[in-house]
Amino acid sequence: MYWLLSRFSMSATGARRSVIRELLKLTQQPGIISFAGGLPSPETFPVREIAELSREVILKEGAWALQYGPTEGVPGLKEEIIRHIAKDGMKAGPENILITSASQQGLDLVSRVFLNRRNRIIVGRPTYLGALSAFRSTGALFSEVELDEEGMRTDRVREQVEALRLEGNPPKFVYVVPDFQNPSGVTLSLKRRKELLSIAREHRFPIIEDSPYRALRYVGSPVPSLYELDGGEGFVISLHTFSKILFPGLRLGWILAGPAMIDRFVMAKQAMDLCSPGLTQAIALEYCRRGLLDGHIQDNIVLYREKRKVMLEALERFMPDHPEIRWTRPEGGLFLWLCLPESVDVEIMFHDAIAAKVAYVVGTCFYAYDGGHHAMRLNFSYPSESDIVEGIRRLADVIRNYL
Ligand SMILES: Cc1ncc(COP(=O)(O)O)c(C=O)c1O
Repeated sequence: MYWLLSRFSMSATGARRSVIRELLKLTQQPGIISFAGGLPSPETFPVREIAELSREVILKEGAWALQYGPTEGVPGLKEEIIRHIAKDGMKAGPENILITSASQQGLDLVSRVFLNRRNRIIVGRPTYLGALSAFRSTGALFSEVELDEEGMRTDRVREQVEALRLEGNPPKFVYVVPDFQNPSGVTLSLKRRKELLSIAREHRFPIIEDSPYRALRYVGSPVPSLYELDGGEGFVISLHTFSKILFPGLRLGWILAGPAMIDRFVMAKQAMDLCSPGLTQAIALEYCRRGLLDGHIQDNIVLYREKRKVMLEALERFMPDHPEIRWTRPEGGLFLWLCLPESVDVEIMFHDAIAAKVAYVVGTCFYAYDGGHHAMRLNFSYPSESDIVEGIRRLADVIRNYL
């Protein structure tokens, strides 16, 4: 096998089996209440409708649904997406859309189109682990900007951009999850969105807006997307997905951007997978065409709103009273972020949590280099309400032993 290793690319040689993956394997043990996954609840999957509709679609549309399709995506599905996002203030024509094999492919496409070794990019501190992996594979370097309750600190973004310019390595882009961020659950305020756009325009770099959770708002009022605020000027590349509003097994999402940018992504996608699956596009198209999507999203909101409430109440009830124990109160999405005192190392505590049959994601995996040793991400969409209460009770007991 050693001879084979010497044939690997630099990015494959650099890739490490992460400690986090090893930890996550432990969460699969029987009896564990896991807040570690990032999964939608299977209760939300419209199994019967998809089964019936898939059969009909294959019989009726099999000739194209089972065939290779256009790299840009199936035109009918693009039309449905255009209608769907228009309700959320996002204007787009078919030339502004590329259908992707979900958002993770969007992130990979962004990496391939923008990044070379040692390029700088600005990301949140913490930020989505999968984006870090996609960007890291190119050899890019991260400049991290901390978050507060209004999301990414734009004053710090400006400082970083100016410092990087002086070094002669200006950022290729800023990556942000503005709505109910993974992992923190925090939403970027309108003021910050406008500031971020104004920095992008002044320094001429794109913003990568990754917004899989945007439609899942449980309280408060929506903040316009960066894509809408940009008004078609081309400073925002916006990534979206069916994973959290319909089901992740579709592996379908879309990129919104200016036509020239979409063209670049199309060329990159051709080399990756030629096209996203025609079959799942046909299923998604039929689901949307029957007018089922909005009602389905509404059902998800009702379910997750309750689960979020149950988790917040359980935290309130069980967590030890300590000034350094704090958690976010996300207005939507699937996660919240729990911060613990400096004396607690969440990687060490993880093994005790597993012994107590409860699991979380250690904060460290959401940082590009180092950080998050005293924080964790908790998912509230997957476990049942009774498991949320029991799991938080167990977790609070484990934490209490570390204080
Ligand atoms: C912020 C963010 N971006 C992208 C993804 C990837 O999702 P998918 O590829 O299923 O669309 C996720 C998944 O959890 C996510 O949280």
